[in-house]
Amino acid sequence: MLEIRNLTKRFGGLTAVDDISFRVAKGHIHAVIGPNGAGKTTLINTISGLYRCDGGSVWLDGADITDIPTDQLVYRGIARTFQNLEICGGMSVLENVLLGFDRYMDKTLWPTLLRSGRLMDQERRFTERAMHLLELVGIEDLAHQKAHALSYGILKKLEIVRALATGPELLLLDEPVAGLNPQETDEVAELIRTLVADEVTVILIEHDMRMVMELSDWITVMHRGKKLAEGTPAEIRNDPRVIEAYLGGALK
Ligand SMILES: Nc1ncnc2c1ncn2[C@@H]1O[C@H](COP(=O)(O)OP(=O)(O)OP(=O)(O)O)[C@@H](O)[C@H]1O
Ligand SMILES: [Mg+2]
Repeated sequence: MLEIRNLTKRFGGLTAVDDISFRVAKGHIHAVIGPNGAGKTTLINTISGLYRCDGGSVWLDGADITDIPTDQLVYRGIARTFQNLEICGGMSVLENVLLGFDRYMDKTLWPTLLRSGRLMDQERRFTERAMHLLELVGIEDLAHQKAHALSYGILKKLEIVRALATGPELLLLDEPVAGLNPQETDEVAELIRTLVADEVTVILIEHDMRMVMELSDWITVMHRGKKLAEGTPAEIRNDPRVIEAYLGGALK
């Protein structure tokens, strides 16, 4: 579904993503792991068009999407979450989710001005769908609370729900369970499983190795901007290079 070819991103003299190539199969949970500073977030930022790459290309279903800006990728079915949350604190939980439906909204002027029946129907439909998504992660009771008043764990879930509202075929998750307690972590893991059963493909960046090993179909390991290894969870867990560069520390 997604193919990364020789992707490179530099910040001044630092090559944060260094000639990375890999493929993500449709319907897979594909993890990208590696030590702090390995270049995982930069990779996601480059795939999702937030950064322009300095070399290489990104292909989605056979189409070159390398130069498509980030706000256009949503129309190609790509959504993401951010390692550092990007929630609008002054808005309610429900309003944050409704932002995700933006691509489906009728933006023509007349229905808006006239508050037409069609627009009201549309609002009702989106609100119902948003409430359903909030139910998936068990936070529907908080729909009308302002986001800034809520705990970190709730906001992490909200961030995923908002990405889901765009109706993605490919979801990029940057550390979705960082800072969550074990119960919340299990809930998010369960949600990811549900999504994949629903034919969403997931790229998962995560330091929680138990979750990565349980969920992933395939793992790409990054180290200092480069691809160190790739394989199934069993292969990666037993790869001496990965253990030395990362897992030795991550599993302690
Ligand atoms: N906007 C930026 N400007 C300059 N350097 C950056 C920028 N973003 C990241 N870097 C550097 O690029 C390297 C890769 O960082 P990145 O955030 O991609 O790592 P990461 O694998 O996501 O790490 P972590 O697991 O800690 O989130 C680091 O050395 C970082 O300091
Ligand atoms: Mg990161």
